[in-house]
Amino acid sequence: MSGKILVLGATGNVGRPLVGALLSRGERVKAASRSGAVVAGAEGAVFDFEDPSTFDAAFSGVDRAFVLAPTGSLAITERLLPVIAAAAARKMKVVFMSVLGADADDAIPYRQVELALEPSGTPYVILRPNWFADNFHTFWKAGLAHGQIALPAGTGKTSFIDARDIAESAVAALTTDRFDGRAFNLTGPQALDYGEAAAILSAVTGKPIAYAAVDDDTFVGILTRAGVPEAYARFLASIFHPVREGWTAALAADVEALTGHAPRTLKTYAQDHAAELK
Ligand SMILES: NC(=O)c1ccc[n+]([C@@H]2O[C@H](COP(=O)([O-])OP(=O)(O)OC[C@H]3O[C@@H](n4cnc5c(N)ncnc54)[C@H](OP(=O)(O)O)[C@@H]3O)[C@@H](O)[C@H]2O)c1
Repeated sequence: MSGKILVLGATGNVGRPLVGALLSRGERVKAASRSGAVVAGAEGAVFDFEDPSTFDAAFSGVDRAFVLAPTGSLAITERLLPVIAAAAARKMKVVFMSVLGADADDAIPYRQVELALEPSGTPYVILRPNWFADNFHTFWKAGLAHGQIALPAGTGKTSFIDARDIAESAVAALTTDRFDGRAFNLTGPQALDYGEAAAILSAVTGKPIAYAAVDDDTFVGILTRAGVPEAYARFLASIFHPVREGWTAALAADVEALTGHAPRTLKTYAQDHAAELK
């Protein structure tokens, strides 16, 4: 593996720490985004899922790629299958960030991407992260500002994962062939319900933060009033079903298997992001 590593979504939650971690290991990195911005000092590459004419230049000189679907799109297979095909045609190794539970049903779009990658003949690793801890300072930040996180999560528990642990897992997957041909479930070290998570955020930030369990329609109303398109708000509501069922409470040892260290706790996440959570 002597070529460059292409990181899609390089300006995002996982991509940015991934670029930094790869550079610090001496890897040559192309940081891909629509703008082609330089990220953490890495060469920028213009890449747009909507414009396949950007693929060739972005893939030039690359032998490994970190592939994800950008947040906010429901067109998962439409966006990712052409990228998987283009990478496989070049025999580029693909580390694909899927989602926890994708393997529950072959009809799930992320599973369809996995099913295209697995027999493609190119080396691959699939990473299936649980809900990100980082959502608290991104998606749910507006709620935190009002002292309340309102979600249709019931009392279901989630083993939230820190995006840095996903990035470090991806580093391991990209820089050795030891994990090739396998899928890994990436979770944090504790399963917490949103009330317990809110209490941790409250203790760390010193701000009162409550959790309100709401129904899907209330949640969709909150999001659409904040400008989220209704179809995407409904999609977000739908993915809280596995949370209410308790399926996101699973604890996996895969972060440690990949990185050699235990995943970060929600308290550590909150302490390290305290300024962004306030
Ligand atoms: N949040 C969670 O709890 C969670 C849990 C499990 C799995 N996931 C999965 O994680 C993925 C999101 O990862 P993330 O949070 O690291 O991403 P993110 O922070 O939302 O960043 C998205 C990245 O994609 C780029 N992008 C957006 N539109 C693009 C386009 N048309 N062409 C090329 N690049 C584009 C953005 O850069 P520019 O805008 O600069 O182009 C940005 O770098 C999703 O697939 C999601 O399903 C999330």
